[in-house]
Amino acid sequence: MRIVLLGAPGAGKGTQAQFIMEKFGIPQISTGDMLRAAIKAGTPLGLKAKEVMDQGQLVSDDLIIGLVKERISQDDCAKGFLLDGFPRTIPQADAMKDAGVVVDYVLEFAVPDEEIVKRMSGRRVHPGSGRVYHLIYNPPKVEGKDDVTGDELVIRVDDEEGTVRKRLGVYHEQTAPLIDYYKQAAEAGQTRHYKVDGTQSVETVSKKLADILS
Ligand code: AP5
Repeated sequence: MRIVLLGAPGAGKGTQAQFIMEKFGIPQISTGDMLRAAIKAGTPLGLKAKEVMDQGQLVSDDLIIGLVKERISQDDCAKGFLLDGFPRTIPQADAMKDAGVVVDYVLEFAVPDEEIVKRMSGRRVHPGSGRVYHLIYNPPKVEGKDDVTGDELVIRVDDEEGTVRKRLGVYHEQTAPLIDYYKQAAEAGQTRHYKVDGTQSVETVSKKLADILS
């Protein structure tokens, strides 16, 4: 099962990736988490990515494509994987197609921009695992602490409102064209495309995804 989660920043991709990964036993490949890990480790990739990410822009296609190709060639991806945050541009999708990677499901999350801006102010993350919470909609069991490790939760640097609005602009310009790209692929029988209303509760969205994937 090879799945692509498509949607604006904050649409709920990371939250539902956690659910799908646990329910279907396939690894989550989050390009955002991989880049943040590279930044934390101070690698050359991390140094290049940090400035771009903090400004809400996209890292270059070449860097990301190389990173994802390397990751999906690993053993744990043999039975499938869940791409969270990739592809994000038409060249990234083309590169995957050219490499012979067939996408079985494209799950599109639809959430209006203003709802996203509201959501991001309440997001808290566990940097070690990428687990995502929300102060109101998806709170941790203990305030400010990760449910699994008890570590402190943090606010992402790029969740400041001005940066979120920039990221939304980048999404509409560079990533949203992938919706038509995958709709056409679905019409040609090359994949399956489903649009999910991401404004529903976390549990309702999870149930809908489980129905689609089962
Ligand atoms: P990345 O980390 O991928 O960020 P993003 O796509 O912008 O997505 P987010 O993680 O912000 O949001 P999400 O959809 O996962 O939402 P979440 O589940 O957290 O990328 C960061 C940066 O890395 C990019 O800006 C770029 O620079 C770079 N990058 C990454 N991939 C790249 C690529 N392929 N090419 C080039 N550059 C790349 O939910 C958000 C909040 O809402 C949470 O608080 C959550 O608890 C809450 N929530 C979730 N679902 C619901 C719900 N149904 N109802 C209410 N609240 C909800």
